Amino acid sequence: MKKIGFIGYGSMGRVILNGFLESGMLKPFNVTVSTRTRSKLSELEKNYPDVEIAHNNIQTAQNSDIIFLFTGTSDVKNVIEEIKTYLSEKTHLVYISAALGIDMVSTIFDGKITKVIPSITSEVHEGVSLICHHESVSIEESDFVDNLFRTVGDVKIVDEADLDVGADITSCSPAFIAKIFQEFSIEASNNSTFSREEAEKMIISTLYGTSKLLYEKGYGIDDLISAVATKGGITEEGVKILDNELPELFNELFKTTIKKHQIIQSKLKEQY
Ligand SMILES: NC(=O)c1ccc[n+]([C@@H]2O[C@H](COP(=O)([O-])OP(=O)(O)OC[C@H]3O[C@@H](n4cnc5c(N)ncnc54)[C@H](OP(=O)(O)O)[C@@H]3O)[C@@H](O)[C@H]2O)c1
Repeated sequence: MKKIGFIGYGSMGRVILNGFLESGMLKPFNVTVSTRTRSKLSELEKNYPDVEIAHNNIQTAQNSDIIFLFTGTSDVKNVIEEIKTYLSEKTHLVYISAALGIDMVSTIFDGKITKVIPSITSEVHEGVSLICHHESVSIEESDFVDNLFRTVGDVKIVDEADLDVGADITSCSPAFIAKIFQEFSIEASNNSTFSREEAEKMIISTLYGTSKLLYEKGYGIDDLISAVATKGGITEEGVKILDNELPELFNELFKTTIKKHQIIQSKLKEQY
């Protein structure tokens, strides 16, 4: 059985590691974890006493065939430099920092590398993890990682060139979607006697139902719009407003995020 190491137990590390362990695909006694603030591991330690809490990242690296690197982007380089003499050519490094190209990471670790863009929706085992494997990763190794991420949602294998827009669609979008519905509830409240909280509650319930219709009942997006926006009706008028405003808004959003991805990537390139 492969030995698995996790370095960095923040928002994503907690969600993903707990998801893997809950699925039963990872056995706690095969897992070693280290993170900067050790006290953050107390809940994990309590729930999974067989998980090894390492004293440092080097111990995690020494124990592991696969290392999941879940630190913030700016810490990835230092951590790899710290552990790299303890890695073998068989070690498989998996990291989740969108802005860090595999080519950049390869300059400090010339081995098997996989980049994953997870989503906060993994906490409820939904949403999509985008995965990109370097050519040095074997089918068996990539299958193992893909199947682990399938325990916390869907998996889509993508070319690294598509990861920026892909990350906007799957990883940034929970915030975009929440923002859209925040504005929707504010204006709903402004135009009625509903409080913002009441409007939010109604919208969240409707959003959940809409997701179920799309995901479980197989409605296509176009079908759902036509089913609700009957010809000459009130919904159709609202949809017309969105038709006028949204294409430009989303085009602007993608232009802006793509530019930001590029700025961050070129700053990072200077460090690698
Ligand atoms: N949050 C998302 O929705 C999301 C989605 C996709 C990808 N990502 C990417 O995932 C990465 C992590 O994001 P996050 O939101 O989980 O960040 P986070 O909450 O800040 O977690 C990072 C963790 O790494 C730990 N750490 C930092 N330096 C370390 C070191 N040298 N050794 C060991 N542990 C160290 C931090 O320790 P402390 O607790 O002491 O700070 C923290 O627990 C980022 O690159 C981000 O871009 C995030």
